[in-house]
Amino acid sequence: MTSLADIRSTFLDYFKRQGHEVVASSPLVPRNDPTLMFTNSGMVQFKNRFTGLESGPYQRATTSQKCVRAGGKHNDLDNVGYTARHLTFFEMLGNFSFGDYFKEDAIPFAWELLTKDFGIDKSRLLTTVYHTDDEAFDLWKKIGVPEDRIIRIATDDNFWRMGPTGPCGPCTEIFFDHGDQIWGGPPGSPEEDGDRFIEIWNIVFMQNEQFEDGTMKPLDMQSIDTGMGLERIASLLQGSNSVYETDLMRALIGASANVTGVDPDGDRAVHHRVIADHLRSTSFLIAEGVMPSNEGRGYVLRRIMRRAMRHAHLLGAKDPVMHRLVPELVRQMGTAYPELVERKSTIEETLLGEEERFRQTLDRGLKLLAEEATGLSEGQSLSGAAAFKLYDTYGFPLDLTQDALRDRGVLVDTDGFDAAMADQKAKARAAWVGTGATADVAVWFDIVDAHGATDFLGYETETAEGQIKALVADGAPVNQVAKGEVQIVLNQTPFYAESGGQVGDTGVITTATGAAVVKDTRKEAGLFIHIADVTDGEIKAGQGAELIVDHARRTGIRANHSATHLLHEALREALGDHVAQRGSLNAPDRLRFDFSHGKGLSADELRKVEADVNAMIRQNTPVVTRIMTPDDARAIGAQALFGEKYGDEVRVVSMGRADTGKGADGQTYSIELCGGTHVRQTGDIGAFVTLGDSASSSGVRRIEALTGQAALDHLQAQDHRLAQVALALKAQVADVPDRVKSLIDERKALANEVAQLRRELAMSGGAKAAPVEARVINGVAFKAQVMQGVTGRDLPAIIDEMKGDMGSGAVLLIADGDGKAAVAAGVTTDLTDKVSAVDLVRAAVAELGGKGGGGRADMAQGGGKDAGNAEAAIAAAEKVLG
Ligand code: ALA
Repeated sequence: MTSLADIRSTFLDYFKRQGHEVVASSPLVPRNDPTLMFTNSGMVQFKNRFTGLESGPYQRATTSQKCVRAGGKHNDLDNVGYTARHLTFFEMLGNFSFGDYFKEDAIPFAWELLTKDFGIDKSRLLTTVYHTDDEAFDLWKKIGVPEDRIIRIATDDNFWRMGPTGPCGPCTEIFFDHGDQIWGGPPGSPEEDGDRFIEIWNIVFMQNEQFEDGTMKPLDMQSIDTGMGLERIASLLQGSNSVYETDLMRALIGASANVTGVDPDGDRAVHHRVIADHLRSTSFLIAEGVMPSNEGRGYVLRRIMRRAMRHAHLLGAKDPVMHRLVPELVRQMGTAYPELVERKSTIEETLLGEEERFRQTLDRGLKLLAEEATGLSEGQSLSGAAAFKLYDTYGFPLDLTQDALRDRGVLVDTDGFDAAMADQKAKARAAWVGTGATADVAVWFDIVDAHGATDFLGYETETAEGQIKALVADGAPVNQVAKGEVQIVLNQTPFYAESGGQVGDTGVITTATGAAVVKDTRKEAGLFIHIADVTDGEIKAGQGAELIVDHARRTGIRANHSATHLLHEALREALGDHVAQRGSLNAPDRLRFDFSHGKGLSADELRKVEADVNAMIRQNTPVVTRIMTPDDARAIGAQALFGEKYGDEVRVVSMGRADTGKGADGQTYSIELCGGTHVRQTGDIGAFVTLGDSASSSGVRRIEALTGQAALDHLQAQDHRLAQVALALKAQVADVPDRVKSLIDERKALANEVAQLRRELAMSGGAKAAPVEARVINGVAFKAQVMQGVTGRDLPAIIDEMKGDMGSGAVLLIADGDGKAAVAAGVTTDLTDKVSAVDLVRAAVAELGGKGGGGRADMAQGGGKDAGNAEAAIAAAEKVLG
């Protein structure tokens, strides 16, 4: 049997021989298209080649492209499991010509490959052409297809469009007849939806471009875009009419049968088929970083996941099963798509988490559904209110409810569902309190009602295309802006909007007619608002736009944010579990982390924290993100923000291996609830250095730190300063601490010596005042003296000495220097009951033009403006005594 892998390589090799470049599959989340939800065909990555916007080194290419058709124009979700040919995930084999060959080569290439290389019986093939395309008709005739097997089709089935805009053109399709034992009719017949005639290859003659306003213009170049579903051609070559009979899908269905214990081919085979298909689409999307959510792509992923999970439930599965099928998927497809191998554990965890969450409400939801649908017969509808309750309370996406009722032919009142949804949104709007940072919230609600929330692409990419949904200037929506500040809303964006301490992204938005520099990005009512200045031309609502985040700045922000998580855990380990985040800033150039802790960190503690963070950086382990309920997150030890309200589910960011056996859960070093953007591997942080710790508020400390190049720059600057110190000391850097210490000791000794000398000088009359005799006032011996050449600091020691000499008495000294006067008084302890030095000083100070003065009864000090009034000051002190 020819395996899928062989068929893939036969196809690519054939076109390589025909001069085509073999190009790798592009991601499922298109980077170059503002309107597409998922890559839905091989041509998506070449869109700009067809329109001539881009050129490239080759004019012919061939790919095997991963595709998802579960949203937007091409949506096969509802059919999956029920027909033999529909899949939400498939691989599209394609050959492309960019203005090189056209119809006359494309048709023979396809025919030769199918009938020679793949050896398909010509008599089983038939083709369709667009009804006006005589050229294609004649080419098929020339190649030997009988005229009655070349069917002219007048509908859009033979006019291919990628989406609402973009390159398009008439096409010709090749069908395979699986024989009359299978129900179905040829294309264009009333029975065409049956599985007998299956389209295997579509060849599009790219010659037009479709625009947003509905107009279509001819392209300068005539090009070729083809697409053949790998699974369809494989089933045919493997002798079956069903894509679910291919070797790969059989293996996945076998795995599903194994884990559920249900016969893969019995009357419940449809459930296995749904599971096998949905396993592929969900795993590939998760591998690309899409996470289940309630908006945009994340919601499509959730819808597919939950649909699969209901079918697993129908197979009687009591526990989550989807994650147990991932190893088989990786075995089957990991070689061709290494991202499955790399992200295997993320895929498993995400599937498991979602299935656990959904199972909590699934039974009750199904019970409600059964009750509400009782008595409804074929053609009747479940009420919109019931469908909405299932959606809102039990997490049943609308299409899951529709799928559940499908067997019985019961429909759902989708208008009623939409009305219930609109009602809920109106309530949310009434309750909303905006951040006040941008225009009036009503504007944003109008925009989100009309266009939906912004899909954030910035976890995975920093550049993407988006479509401008609204422009707001001076608080009001506008159609275009030529200069000045504008707030730009797009359907999707890689720009991170400020939240959780992480600053908003900056960068550039460019359209066909202008450019704007984004200064900041904020979030309001589910919208990402790009606050920008138009710098060139004009920006118009409705335009496609190229979005480029300032990469260097974001790189710094990522590193700082991840380092903040590591710092948080390092602090907990160094100081204790009471450490909790009280605030943070993750800016491009630095980080700041506020946390609860009563006292400053010792140098040793800081050193340990810094060393621990750097050890985690050197470990260079991947940073993993998961989605879970807040309770589950707390159960695995995730750090959450104190006092913060979390929704039904949270994003959990983990990093580092806890070699110490400590960390958040004994294995992982840091686990935190976080919506921010992070490095891929801890090693990307580069280096970490703290700038010290300080008090932020009572009981809260603050650490500022640097990472990466900024950390190295800081260390280098410190190093340079140290070298300068060493040079000044004429010492080796290593000897600097000892040298500085001995200098300080020396300085202290000298200062003491100087003070001693001054005192001696003053006492021996060296100061410019003669020693005085004591006068006895009211029985107290009192010496008062004005001294020069001494400072206020020298006075107490002199007073002590004089008191010692006197044995009993009081002293008042006034130091006269630099236009200021210092006063000190001393009283021997035998007299302190009678006289207080404080009173003496205060009396003197008042005369010297100063205020106050204080100390103890035996020694007090004060100061005045100048010593000119020294005599009066002494007289005032004498008065105190007498
Ligand atoms: N782009 C064409 C298709 O998807 C080939 O059918």
